[in-house]
Amino acid sequence: MSDTETTTATATPGTTGASIQLQQVTKEYAGQAQPAVDHIDLDIKAGEILMLVGPSGCGKTTTLKMINRLIEPTSGRIVLDGEDVTNQDADQLRRHIGYVIQAGGLFPHMTVAANVGLVPGMLKWDKQRIAERTDELLELVGLEPGQYRDRYPRELSGGQQQRVGVARALAADPPVLLMDEPFGAVDPITRQRLQDELLNIQEELGKTIVMVTHDFDEAVKLGDRIAILDVGARIVQLDTPEELLQNPADDFVVDFIGKGAALKTLDLTRVSDVPLRTGTTARASTSTADAVAAARAAGDTYVVVLDQRDRPLRWHRIEELEAAGETIGSRADEDLPTLSRRSTLNEALDTMLTASQNGVIVTGRRDAYVGFLTIDTVMSFMSPGDEAGAGS
Ligand SMILES: Nc1ncnc2c1ncn2[C@@H]1O[C@H](COP(=O)(O)OP(=O)(O)OP(=O)(O)O)[C@@H](O)[C@H]1O
Ligand SMILES: [Mg+2]
Repeated sequence: MSDTETTTATATPGTTGASIQLQQVTKEYAGQAQPAVDHIDLDIKAGEILMLVGPSGCGKTTTLKMINRLIEPTSGRIVLDGEDVTNQDADQLRRHIGYVIQAGGLFPHMTVAANVGLVPGMLKWDKQRIAERTDELLELVGLEPGQYRDRYPRELSGGQQQRVGVARALAADPPVLLMDEPFGAVDPITRQRLQDELLNIQEELGKTIVMVTHDFDEAVKLGDRIAILDVGARIVQLDTPEELLQNPADDFVVDFIGKGAALKTLDLTRVSDVPLRTGTTARASTSTADAVAAARAAGDTYVVVLDQRDRPLRWHRIEELEAAGETIGSRADEDLPTLSRRSTLNEALDTMLTASQNGVIVTGRRDAYVGFLTIDTVMSFMSPGDEAGAGS
């Protein structure tokens, strides 16, 4: 909301993550007719958040657990940062891969600090270093160390337990974080906070994160890319959220995305990402006739009135402006629908609907006028993929 923030959406994080490749990885459980994971090939980039979504039982958890070999693949190769780790000592491997499960998966008989310090302890860090690291991580996940470090998991809310789970997974600064429905068990508001927290942490740390979720909205919000899996962990589509929403590969993906696809696209797109119209502007206290002439010459039917620092005051139809006198007044319209460039198209639509206007003014740094966005522009971003001829 601050008008001093830069226009760069994300600071380029120093990537500390590792790339992960699954090559023809298969898991056959004893006594099962079909493989749970059937020759999956997956190329995960260093520093990205890859979301795995798909119907229950399609092999998401199995795929995830094969990355850190909590489950041994039946065949195939797993390559971490270019190194084949398929036959590396599994315990060794797991210390370099953080793992977060639903409800935090904390040890109930251990304090928060002991839970977080678990892996560093195994790595034989000295006590002082573990204590410092624990406090640092609790702060990172938004828990005041003095207040929480000596509590037991049962003395925490679900969301707090989840935070501790994330802190524990990050403890030894692993390049890879695997998360299996980490926010599944918390209420929607807490979930949203945890998601935002994770994005903040990720901006700072640049880990490679592979996360399983049931919640497609969560996948869209967090994922750099989303893999939609079907039975046997068959990859139906692997794409950015934008691509998935706009060009779903087939009906399976369309069903998965669900009805809200159009609105989800609006959540993904920021006002700064779409073409704005500049229209005709005029400063308060200048000549009405000049402004009207400029608007007519430009083919505009509206004039946006700005104050001395280019902040929008109100807008007028040409006729209204002409009727209002020789000099343009400096009155501000309290109800002028205005948005920052950082807003999403969904917020833009909301603002227009609330104001019953078919456009909204967009402001940039120091609330200065940037242009305006019309409802037509927003609508053009709502067209679902199947209309765009992606079917068949
Ligand atoms: N230990 C096991 N022994 C035998 N079969 C298993 C075992 N674990 C999982 N499976 C089977 O393998 C398939 C994939 O299971 P997995 O747990 O990977 O699915 P998932 O996509 O994570 O599902 P969910 O969304 O319900 O968590 C399922 O058919 C499941 O029944
Ligand atoms: Mg699962």
